[in-house]
Amino acid sequence: MKKTITVIPGDGIGTEVVAGALQILDVIAKRFDHTFEYKNALAGGAALDTTGIPLPEETLKLAKLSDAVLLGAVGGPKWDSNPQHLKPERALLGLRKELGLYANIRPAKIYSALVDASALKKEVVEGVDIIVVRELTGGLYFGKPSGFEQRNGEEVGFNTMIYSESEVRRIAESAFEIARKRSKKLCSVDKANVLETSQLWRKVVLEVAKKYPDVELSHMYVDNCSMQLIRNPKQFDVIVTENLFGDILSDEAAMLTGSIGMLASASLGGTVAMYEPVHGSAPDIAGQNKANPIATIASVAMMLKYSFNLSLEADAIENSIQRVLSKGFRTGDIYTEGMTLLGTKEMTKKIVENL
Ligand code: IPM
Ligand code: MG
Repeated sequence: MKKTITVIPGDGIGTEVVAGALQILDVIAKRFDHTFEYKNALAGGAALDTTGIPLPEETLKLAKLSDAVLLGAVGGPKWDSNPQHLKPERALLGLRKELGLYANIRPAKIYSALVDASALKKEVVEGVDIIVVRELTGGLYFGKPSGFEQRNGEEVGFNTMIYSESEVRRIAESAFEIARKRSKKLCSVDKANVLETSQLWRKVVLEVAKKYPDVELSHMYVDNCSMQLIRNPKQFDVIVTENLFGDILSDEAAMLTGSIGMLASASLGGTVAMYEPVHGSAPDIAGQNKANPIATIASVAMMLKYSFNLSLEADAIENSIQRVLSKGFRTGDIYTEGMTLLGTKEMTKKIVENL
């Protein structure tokens, strides 16, 4: 199989973890006789520094022409005070919107070797295996109007939370499809006791549910969900929710697994899918060979599975990660006493060796 991948390392630890993931892909290519061609592209702070804008046309063009996109992370203190349209994060939002990636899949699965790295009790987290399906191109992130203006003699900032029926329907369908292939349990998370967008959300989800009688649907308010995720995460299998709620809940779900440095994501819905770790650019540890490459390596496994239909290859990566963890190798974020502490490069090497 021959595939072209647009590679966007981005900023901070993005470049380090992406380098690790490409090493894994190279080994997979060799072992399984595939050709992966990488096209490097700029986005975020890296693009701002060279081109003056966060998401160059060239990057979008490359992404649209490729078979998949791999992104590291964008952002950093250097660009934090930039005006809104020149913030690195705009690149990420632009890629999602322009590529039509409305379905963000964020699995939070606890590796058994890591139960002790979680901040929660072993009994609570052991066996947790959740997928958060986050709507990615609507809601407060993109709703118009948004901006700043003067009202009654003071500045106000405003955003619009808006969802159309069709936007809710397609993400609900994605979530039901995923739930159907797992334990057939779907929890739709909203704030329907307060928000009109959530009332519409719930109505449409209920309509879509009629097509999936085999899937058990429940509804939960987002505040309660954030509590339930900590109290008893094992009650969840697939969670579907709007953009901002999903942003928050997926970080929370990630932390159940011990570290956000473990969590991969896939953004689907368009013709080209994008894969990225859930974590950010972590400027505090950037360039120090400290970052955990596992989230990005697991993202590449998702790419193989979802975009290229290469499940065997994806499983090989997953198994290698599992093996390395059970042998006691850890990066700093998941380190516990008695384990072997490794840097980004060394961890990558271990995963290569165990493939
Ligand atoms: C994420 C991030 C992004 C988001 C930021 C960096 C724009 O937090 O992917 O979860 O809010 O979607
Ligand atoms: Mg986030």
